[in-house]
Amino acid sequence: MRHAALKGSGSYKPDNIVHNRTFEFLVDTSDEWIRSRTGIEKRPVTIDENTSDLAFEASIRALRDASMQAEDIDLIIVATVTGDYFFPGVSQLLQRRLGCGNITAFDINAACTGFIYALEIADQMIKGGRFDTALIVGAEVLTKFTDFSDRNTCVLFGDAAGAMVLTASKAPGIITTSTHARGDLEGYLHMESYPLKKDFQTIEDSRPFINMNGREIFRFATTVIPEVVEELLGHEGMNLDALDMIVAHQANKRIIDKASKALAFPKEKMYLNIESTGNTSAASVPLAIDEAIKDDRLQSGDTFAAVAFGAGLTWGGALITLGGLS
Ligand code: UT7
Repeated sequence: MRHAALKGSGSYKPDNIVHNRTFEFLVDTSDEWIRSRTGIEKRPVTIDENTSDLAFEASIRALRDASMQAEDIDLIIVATVTGDYFFPGVSQLLQRRLGCGNITAFDINAACTGFIYALEIADQMIKGGRFDTALIVGAEVLTKFTDFSDRNTCVLFGDAAGAMVLTASKAPGIITTSTHARGDLEGYLHMESYPLKKDFQTIEDSRPFINMNGREIFRFATTVIPEVVEELLGHEGMNLDALDMIVAHQANKRIIDKASKALAFPKEKMYLNIESTGNTSAASVPLAIDEAIKDDRLQSGDTFAAVAFGAGLTWGGALITLGGLS
């Protein structure tokens, strides 16, 4: 049977680092509150690089890690809600800049769950036999849409990109995936687009901003993370002890701690890098996976669950066994 496997990974964070103390000058908050309520200490914030620039740097690193060239890729999927433009997509900018052939390239929007959706789509497209090698990327510049006068959101986000090269393989690297949505809960986390134009009037500059009910998202996340891990294991008749690690969307350290408790899964096997990344939305999971691999926390032969949740509301996960990584 034909499968898809992870051949290489890469990530990129802008050099400019913003520490919690900076927010004390912007809103009524404190380093202590941000650390204790979220686990975040600092986050990368881009100054002059846009989403496609971050995606490009992460992709170059993933290709190098996979010992592959841009010409080897026949599919690009980028998960983002903060593209350089409404159109063209980041995927098409990436395709030109990498120098791939005239291949299939498209963006998807599933917010912070976007990378998991991209992974599921690429896995199915490779298994279907039409595509052999996919570059999948999660890239975000959420700070473009952050209201820096709103303490409920402005302290949370960072900018980054993570990328993976998936190739057709005989062994199942991507063991199984699962994605879900509940549109009825969309009001808990959303960002307005431009308003409809009435009578052809000119729209005054009303920039959209992220709007979130943090408490409800927190409750949602702590329910769906354990659920989706159990669901993925159930697909394969596997137990939790088959997992070497869980890599969850880095939105809040307390969410990850609660999921560990609910699952009775060791805390030290829940990957954490939120202290230095903040919440990077669709970039969060591939960035965390890449950092876990580069730090030798994940090694060839290891099996882990990657899980995410976000606006939509959406959630999902994947079980992955690493093999053949450099
Ligand atoms: O990527 C997916 C999307 N996002 C998430 O997953 C976020 C999920 N939610 C969370 O991580 C947490 O709910 C937050 C970190 C956003 C908030 O933490 P919390 O412990 O749930 O706080 P809360 O919303 O219950 O608010 C408690 C208090 C409120 O004050 P009052 O009403 O009790 O006086 C907030 O106004 O904390 C206040 N607060 C802050 N105080 C200082 C909210 N933000 C801040 C802040 N600094 N930055």
